[in-house]
Amino acid sequence: MRPAPARPRPEHPAPTGPRCRASVMAASSPPRAGELLAEARRAFREEFGAEPELAVSAPGRVNLIGEHTDYNQGLVLPMALELVTVLVGSPRADGLVSLLTTSEDADEPRRLQFPLPTAQRSLEPGTPRWANYVKGVIQHYPDSGSVAARAQVCQQAEHSFAGVPCGIMDQLIALLGQEGHALLIDCRSLETSLVPLSEPKLAVLITNSNVRHSLGSSEYPLRRRQCEEVARALGKESLREVQLEELEAGRELVSKEGFRRARHVVGEIRRTAQAAAALCRGDYRAFGRLMVESHHSLRDDYEVSCPELDQLVEAALSAPGVYGSRMTGGGFGGCTVTLLEASFTSQVMQHIQEQYSGTATFYLSQAADGAKVLHW
Ligand code: GLA
Repeated sequence: MRPAPARPRPEHPAPTGPRCRASVMAASSPPRAGELLAEARRAFREEFGAEPELAVSAPGRVNLIGEHTDYNQGLVLPMALELVTVLVGSPRADGLVSLLTTSEDADEPRRLQFPLPTAQRSLEPGTPRWANYVKGVIQHYPDSGSVAARAQVCQQAEHSFAGVPCGIMDQLIALLGQEGHALLIDCRSLETSLVPLSEPKLAVLITNSNVRHSLGSSEYPLRRRQCEEVARALGKESLREVQLEELEAGRELVSKEGFRRARHVVGEIRRTAQAAAALCRGDYRAFGRLMVESHHSLRDDYEVSCPELDQLVEAALSAPGVYGSRMTGGGFGGCTVTLLEASFTSQVMQHIQEQYSGTATFYLSQAADGAKVLHW
């Protein structure tokens, strides 16, 4: 195969995107699948002198609730976004892989070629960094079979090629997302259930703080270790097995910080189950309250928020028509997610931007499909 990824993971939207300073606020509209496909086909033709034989897309995601629970075997509730990565390619017979990205944010070089891995010779991570995600998947792919195994291969690629000891949420939602639904994922059993999210009066607003603190890369693995240590100290396999009462009872066995980290995780798993139930019965107020509790817990107990994210959440919560708002993803910058009445969207964006000391970028997306083959 010679895939040509057209965009990096849209999970961390590029801070160079269009800004929203106009008096009538509009969400930024990055290119969607059709546009990206045309661009990828054109780049492929220019590079290889032929039409690609295959095209696929995979979505970005936003996590509605259930933060830092996936690597604790807990519950998460993400939805797939309409923002996608498109990849086109064709098989080749000479055992080589040629890659080309058209992403403006990718580091150089944007083209590279290497031999397919064999039993004797593995691929190694290196530069350019954008290619590590692709190389990692190629290296681990022969181990995959069912859908869950494919997600695990992609997770493995992220661990060993991108150096992030992430959970399984991003990969599962990218594969299993379904239009009009959020996905409740049990990260212990890998069972998933679709939760309807297609009420036209409801909007999901993603606000990029456009900050990313360098802390993120070292603090994420540290949080993961702290959680594992607390579970071990309590004689459990993971924090999923721990109830709040047990944690309280075992307080003396763990550090003060470890206790607070675990209190977030244990509470967040419970909140995620409650939030999925609230969404099922259309109780958006209850959902919103749980989002706010989640944010406070991430800020105070888990300590993965930052002043910019806190400011964005506070701003959203003081706007009309908002049910709830919270930081989303790993933290230390990145995005917030806000659930609101759709008719208030531009007012809410305007309000947030006025209150925010930085420059925010807004994204609106319906819950979309997971990875799929594209046809033209
Ligand atoms: C990152 C990781 C996910 C998850 C979130 C926090 O996005 O990639 O696996 O752990 O952080 O919920």
